Amino acid sequence: MTAPNSSARSSGGVPFDFDALYRGESPAEGIPAVATPPWDTRAPKENVVAWQEGGWVRGDVLDIGCGLGDNAVYLAQQGFNVTGLDISPTALSIAERRANDAGVRVTFAVSDSTKLEGYTETFDTIVDSGMFHCLDDAGKRSYAAAAHRATRPGATLLLSCFSDANPADEDWPRPAVSEQTLRDVLGGAGWDIEALEPASWRREIDGTQVEMAFWYVRARRRALP
Ligand SMILES: C[S@@+](CC[C@H](N)C(=O)[O-])C[C@H]1O[C@@H](n2cnc3c(N)ncnc32)[C@H](O)[C@@H]1O
Repeated sequence: MTAPNSSARSSGGVPFDFDALYRGESPAEGIPAVATPPWDTRAPKENVVAWQEGGWVRGDVLDIGCGLGDNAVYLAQQGFNVTGLDISPTALSIAERRANDAGVRVTFAVSDSTKLEGYTETFDTIVDSGMFHCLDDAGKRSYAAAAHRATRPGATLLLSCFSDANPADEDWPRPAVSEQTLRDVLGGAGWDIEALEPASWRREIDGTQVEMAFWYVRARRRALP
């Protein structure tokens, strides 16, 4: 699998090369390489399980920014037809292996979420677990519009992203998304926000307990004039 460019411009404005990160190299100037990305939990994320158990996932599902594929594999195990897209071919190779090991079929492909080229009215649900906050302001707006185009009328967008309640971390600078940004970007692209809740996770990263603040968002696609 190849991608012309797996760099995304992060919300901090610094180009961040996700494929380099997954290859075990430094993803951006001043950011060290890591052996394992902090989100590689080898299990579906709590928010994705909660969305599925709450009955919010339906029909044809896009896992956007699927990374190493554990959420996509989990949703396929629940019987959904799942497409996992990511900008990093290296992540997708690992995701394919994990899907094979789990004995489920997931369609994985390289795609830039800000374009979603080739997908028009294809999906009923989009699951975005930690991708939105990777994008800069223009990228977020392009993504919201591309997601609208890629989904069918009445589709649901289920999104979790870092909130602006996290303290600054010099070693691993975390993007910060405000409630206003979510409302402006999604609302402006034809997504009606039905739920927007703060959430926090406590997770061990490199032997240290880290608390992380998130937004969990559920939005419904409305028809654009
Ligand atoms: C924080 S990780 C989350 C991965 C996965 N969703 C999870 O829950 O473990 C963000 C993912 O978004 C992907 N990503 C970042 N920018 C992207 C873009 N413009 N288009 C598609 N994927 C992107 C990265 O490669 C990475 O795999």
